Amino acid sequence: MILITGGAGYIGSHTVINFLDNGKDIVIFDNLENGHIETVQTLQKLGNVKFEQGDLRNIEDIEHVFEKYDIDAVIHFAAFALVGESVENPAKYYRNNTFGTLNLLDTMIKHNVKKIVFSSTCATYGEPEYTPIDENHRQNPINPYGASKLMVERIMEDYDRAYGLKSIKLRYFNVAGCDSQIRIGEWHEPETHLIPNILKSTFKCEQPFKIFGEDYDTEDGTCIRDYVNVEDLAEAHRLALDYLNRENKSDVFNLGTENGDSVKNIFDTCEKVLDKKIPVEVAPRRAGDPAKLYANAKKAKEILGWQPSRSIQDSIKTAYMWEKYFVEELQK
Ligand code: UFG
Repeated sequence: MILITGGAGYIGSHTVINFLDNGKDIVIFDNLENGHIETVQTLQKLGNVKFEQGDLRNIEDIEHVFEKYDIDAVIHFAAFALVGESVENPAKYYRNNTFGTLNLLDTMIKHNVKKIVFSSTCATYGEPEYTPIDENHRQNPINPYGASKLMVERIMEDYDRAYGLKSIKLRYFNVAGCDSQIRIGEWHEPETHLIPNILKSTFKCEQPFKIFGEDYDTEDGTCIRDYVNVEDLAEAHRLALDYLNRENKSDVFNLGTENGDSVKNIFDTCEKVLDKKIPVEVAPRRAGDPAKLYANAKKAKEILGWQPSRSIQDSIKTAYMWEKYFVEELQK
């Protein structure tokens, strides 16, 4: 079986669907702090999905999973991922993202499970020295979230040398969209991300969408990011595990579309795709936002054979359908 930590969360749950579609049996391990039991229940209707509620900060919780199931490999998502929160409460990030992962890795070694795909982030690079950012770009995170993930990358390298643990580190850029059949979607409380926030402003009683700063050193003054579709991203995890099974070699890959879109660009595209006027206002800059981040993802394309194929319009459409379903059905 494949163990997917954080499988009840946004990217984790989409990856569960991809693995199920490829005939795999899954154990989800999640503390449900950010993940949702409703998501697990939906996934359990789609295939062989076992669920274990637990927290990586308690080593007994994860030990229990390795004793109960025959695990072949681990896909590790479970983490906190809000940059601003990590600055205010770094202990939460180092305890969960770093120390929790150490518990996971030690348990893997104990049970002789030596393959892991890890969700890392472009936040490990910090302020970019050049764009597009490739995997050799210097890593100098500017917030505890990025640092907590970078520490794990380093631990994994040492665990490879010492214990033969093979890891693929996937450094995501921004992630968008949801399952094309709208069975699951992006469900964060509170929501801080760009596209869901724009879409939420289209529903009655929601506040106007706020652009955080239009005085950046970019063409239209708003921040540029690389928005990769979540189903494309999920596919990269399966390819990464195939690669580990085939080559038994650790490596690291950026995952992004290689296109930079500004906040205004994304906003305009939302209005076009939905054919709606969306209320908007300009607000001050949000602390810690770099002006421009987008990926050079050639390595993932060449070595993993990854081909992100869904457009930003596809991501906006599915995200909107999910928001609509969420507002009309799930939040009744
Ligand atoms: N933005 C707005 N208004 C909003 C929300 C976002 O203008 O209501 C802007 C942000 O200021 C930023 C851009 O939209 O310029 C993207 O913001 P997101 O919050 O969607 O994404 P981030 O780039 O801040 O964060 C993402 C992931 C993090 C990861 C980070 C790496 O969510 O986990 O990329 O840079 F660490």
